[in-house]
Amino acid sequence: MTYAKLLGTGSYLPDQVVTNDDLAQRMETSDEWIRSRTGIRQRHVRAPGQGTSDLALIAAQRALAAAGLTADAIDLIVVATTTPDMVFPSTACLLQAKLGVSSHAPAFDVQAVCTGFIYALSVADQFIRAGSARTALVVGAETFTNLLNWNDRNTCVLFGDGAGAVVLGAADEPGLLATRLHAAGQYAHLLSAPGSFVEGAVVGSPTVQMDGGAVFKFAVKVLDQVCREVLDSEDLTAAAVDCFIPHQANIRIIEATAHKLQIPEERVVRTVSDQGNTSAASVPLALDHAWRNGLFRPGQLGLLAAVGGGFTWGAALLRV
Ligand code: ACO
Repeated sequence: MTYAKLLGTGSYLPDQVVTNDDLAQRMETSDEWIRSRTGIRQRHVRAPGQGTSDLALIAAQRALAAAGLTADAIDLIVVATTTPDMVFPSTACLLQAKLGVSSHAPAFDVQAVCTGFIYALSVADQFIRAGSARTALVVGAETFTNLLNWNDRNTCVLFGDGAGAVVLGAADEPGLLATRLHAAGQYAHLLSAPGSFVEGAVVGSPTVQMDGGAVFKFAVKVLDQVCREVLDSEDLTAAAVDCFIPHQANIRIIEATAHKLQIPEERVVRTVSDQGNTSAASVPLALDHAWRNGLFRPGQLGLLAAVGGGFTWGAALLRV
């Protein structure tokens, strides 16, 4: 049996930091409102000219360095993003060129908004289990602030930019024990950026629209469900989880989910206060934070979970 093993992690946050107080100078909001509703204190915002593939490149280079591999060792690149540099080529192809990979290994994007990294991880896991790839680079990268209407305080205070990456390698033992993915397109209207290109022009709104209350309730319900489902598939309970790495959308969603699963707070990774919601980048950013800070250590069991627009949701169980 072949499994996908974690070989290295990396991440990158742009230098520019926007605090809640910065936002309060531009619009009718306050640090107290944002912090008490979401747990967010600040977010990072891309520099002018910095695209998603630029953020992905630095995260990928750090993950490769941690794995002790060069880019040419990679035979699959999957990038999860909602904010590609361009309509095409994919961000994964642009990243492959920037990394200088000349092996002609396959590279493609996955779009599942905030669940994108879990989807991408699951896809790479299937490639490795099937013997179609031996070493995979899986990235979650976003310049999500490009999708914000900075006059809409309901949404713009929540998000930030960033990238996280992992290198997976084929191994005889797990690794990734199991993944579970779901989608429910009938709820698309609750969270969307409903713009499109028609005859060369943008039609509709390309910025984020959200029913915050409905998203909150849905998120807490399905995160709990999918975490139990992936644990059940391995005959495990939440008591076995050493490190819970949830999507970083809102501290109240994270704490409510951990509470339902009865995972003690010292086992829950939280980066949302410093990063905001970085969509597909949030789980790999949190994973890299946990790994580099000794919150997730060799031999331990990690539970990764996310929910996002689509709706999409998913979870992964990872032994490191
Ligand atoms: N500053 C001040 N006031 C604000 C702000 C703001 N930034 N944003 C909204 N308000 C106002 C609204 O206009 C509204 O005013 P009104 O009552 O006069 O109409 C009021 O605050 C709403 O307040 P609450 O009902 O107390 O807000 P709530 O506690 O529901 O929090 C929030 C709103 C933070 C959006 C919450 O619903 C939430 O976090 N939902 C989840 C959304 C989310 O995480 N989305 C991310 C994408 S999905 C994902 O990643 C899972």
